[in-house]
Amino acid sequence: MKDNLIIEGSQPLYGSVRTSGAKNAALVLIIASIMAEGQTVLDNVPKIRDVEVVIKILNEIGIKAKWQDDGSLSICPPSGHVVSNTPYELSKMLRASNLFLGAFLGRQGEATISMPGGCDIGSRPMDLHLKGVQALGAKVEIEHGYIYAKRKQPIGASIYLDFPSVGATENIMMMAAKTPGLTIIENSAKEPEIVDLANFLNAMGAKIRGAGTDIIRIEGAEVLQAVRHQIIPDRIEAGTYMIAAAITGGEILVENVISTHLHPVMAKLQEAGAYVEENDSGILVKAGNKIKPVDIKTLPYPGFPTDMQSQMMALLCFAEGTSVIVENIFENRFQIVDELKRMGANIKLEGHTAVVEGPRRLNGAKVKATDLRAGAALILAGLVAEGKTEIENSTHIYRGYENIAGKLVSLGARIK
Ligand code: UD1
Repeated sequence: MKDNLIIEGSQPLYGSVRTSGAKNAALVLIIASIMAEGQTVLDNVPKIRDVEVVIKILNEIGIKAKWQDDGSLSICPPSGHVVSNTPYELSKMLRASNLFLGAFLGRQGEATISMPGGCDIGSRPMDLHLKGVQALGAKVEIEHGYIYAKRKQPIGASIYLDFPSVGATENIMMMAAKTPGLTIIENSAKEPEIVDLANFLNAMGAKIRGAGTDIIRIEGAEVLQAVRHQIIPDRIEAGTYMIAAAITGGEILVENVISTHLHPVMAKLQEAGAYVEENDSGILVKAGNKIKPVDIKTLPYPGFPTDMQSQMMALLCFAEGTSVIVENIFENRFQIVDELKRMGANIKLEGHTAVVEGPRRLNGAKVKATDLRAGAALILAGLVAEGKTEIENSTHIYRGYENIAGKLVSLGARIK
């Protein structure tokens, strides 16, 4: 199959690898650019499928977005009203298309958004997003798979999120940035991508304080002016290469990282016996003599990221003992278990908990990338499995990793 990845296992990886821009920051910043007057230029945007889909959505609804010769991405919305109808065929390809809700409400007081799609990792409701925009004065209706939202009497409000949802926090921040009065988001998400969005909007003229804490205050601004902004590095991509060093018994320097964003992953890798060092060039990870079992609980940032759970599970298949993984964010994030079992892993599942018994020698097999991060984890497993691993549905992986095969090959992997 054209899109299948084929990995020949059993070689340690050595060298340095550069992290691309963060997928989850890039997507929301590209979408937030539609609120600015003038041409936004974003640097360090990763060349991944999800970004290409957002660019297509923008171009289809009449907002020019294109790559520049220097690798940056420019977004230039027209000055008047835009028909905000995000097309179903494209929106269903990624969850982040739901971020057009807050961006369009902020830009022009109305939004028609196709209900989003994305990875099949569990139920991904929109209730908190809707509660937020309704509190800011939007009237919302859902019909025929579309969300119709219109700002009636916009005024800042206090919103308490039952869960610190990343997307809901972002949608509310974007709408509030252009809603008169003071908005306060309590129990907001604290992910680094939220901080990048706040920095970007503030550079445009918004008044946002507290991003990165659990209370964000936003005073509405009348106009946002386009700026040039550099996207933060992708902490999940970086973490994946860090695990590649530990799992293959190699040594990798991961460059272009913000180390503090990776502390939860670094802590767990150290606990698993790897040598991890922050230095001026990035984060160096060197495999230890053996992999020790560790327990993991996924939590909102700064807890251990759910987006790193599958990759860690692949590593723990090789640990000398029993590891317990509790997934607290997305209920379907354990679909990888059956695929790893096909390769010889010993994993038991009970509800939100996976018990990984190691050490196992994995064998190459034909497996399926059930979602983006599961796909990355199968690559990691394939790097150390005996023989050939063939990953079907690899397109999932390209949604979020720029040139993953090329980067791993440069470290010594054998991947086609
Ligand atoms: C974002 C990330 C994704 C990451 C996730 C958690 C993007 C594009 N994607 O997804 O990679 O895995 O954060 O770090 O940034 N929830 C509700 N009601 C809502 C919204 C969410 O109950 O209205 C629940 C979800 O079901 C889930 C939890 O909140 O259990 C976390 O979801 P959320 O933080 O919203 O994730 P996303 O923004 O979709």
